[in-house]
Amino acid sequence: MRTIKEHSIMENPFVLVPYVSKDLFCDRKRETETVVEYLMGGANITLISPRRYGKTGLIYRALEEIQGKDKNIRTLYVDIYSSNTIEDFIRLFAESVVRNLKKKSAISSFWGFLGGIRPVISYDGITGIPKLSISYQDEEEKRTTLASLFKYLEELKCTVIVALDEFQQIRNYPDINMEALLRTYIQPLKNVHFIFSGSKKHMMTSMFTDAKSPFYESTRLLFLDKIDKVAYSSFIREQFERFNKRISDEAIDFITSWTKLHTFYTQSLCNHIFIKEDFSVSLEAAKKSASQLLYENEQQFLEVRNLLTSNQWEFLKAIAKEGEVRQPTSGAFILKYRIGTPANSRRLLQSLQDKELILSTSTKEGIAYSVYNVFLSRYLENL
Ligand SMILES: Nc1ncnc2c1ncn2[C@@H]1O[C@H](COP(=O)(O)OP(=O)(O)O)[C@@H](O)[C@H]1O
Ligand SMILES: [Mg+2]
Repeated sequence: MRTIKEHSIMENPFVLVPYVSKDLFCDRKRETETVVEYLMGGANITLISPRRYGKTGLIYRALEEIQGKDKNIRTLYVDIYSSNTIEDFIRLFAESVVRNLKKKSAISSFWGFLGGIRPVISYDGITGIPKLSISYQDEEEKRTTLASLFKYLEELKCTVIVALDEFQQIRNYPDINMEALLRTYIQPLKNVHFIFSGSKKHMMTSMFTDAKSPFYESTRLLFLDKIDKVAYSSFIREQFERFNKRISDEAIDFITSWTKLHTFYTQSLCNHIFIKEDFSVSLEAAKKSASQLLYENEQQFLEVRNLLTSNQWEFLKAIAKEGEVRQPTSGAFILKYRIGTPANSRRLLQSLQDKELILSTSTKEGIAYSVYNVFLSRYLENL
């Protein structure tokens, strides 16, 4: 398990990394319980939510909980976000195994499993994190290496839980049906259970619910929502109080509504306020921090603008000004923001969704569109 030291240096309880410890982690009690229960019951899980809602944090939290319950269960976290090929996947996976193996003898028995290939191991000078480099004779050798990774876990003779974070990434690997391949190796495993996690909702859902997909109906789907407002509000108050700081109810209300309770943005604003304010935080102070944050991020927003056509930028602004749009092709919306035609609106919406600048969320009342980055949304609505 990764430990992160920033907290003790900065003394800021509002952390901006996925997970530090239970006391700095807000709520997610029910979700943690569900994940733990399913995994310990032998099921595989698919965890889906928009980016930065807290999937990775929840995974760490749940794995920690599981280890607390049963020391004999081994857990493995693999982030495959940076992978573009099956080779990357194998390397990241094997690095994670090696990170978990403390003893030299365990590492050499792991090498033994990998058969013919000879990984070269080096340790990062600062973090000490092991890095592997592996060379292969041919394509076939990659497949057998992948197969032996899973075989190794299965033969540990204990329950192993593997989290594959940013799982959708495997759809981008060229010249290979990674889903089918993984499914072949994963299906027969008895002792190894998986969490597949990802933020591209459409892709993730199709991987696990399309009858034609290799992983069809092989897991339990969990959609992670925003943290409950009451829970987040008391968490914010408690964290300030732990450091003998006070924060007014109005300030907390402002924070949760301004950040729309999107986890990462709520944490960022709280982190900012915590640094700036000494003993007591008023509504004005919270608002001041919020506008400072926008100011500090402006360069990044202008870069977004440079990547867009002026029509796209204006459309994004329109969505931001509305906050949430349910009928982007309606006459009223098109007229108000001079979008032209429903077809224009549809095209702009699609292109901005593809760029992950617009988020679509399913609600009881239908689909709602909003600007993905909450700070950008607040910036745009003021233009
Ligand atoms: N339960 C939580 N309590 C406090 N902060 C959280 C919580 N969940 C997530 N965060 C914060 O939100 C950020 C994004 O969470 P992360 O788990 O990385 O999201 P995701 O994996 O869904 O993209 C984290 O860096 C962390 O700062
Ligand atoms: Mg994540």
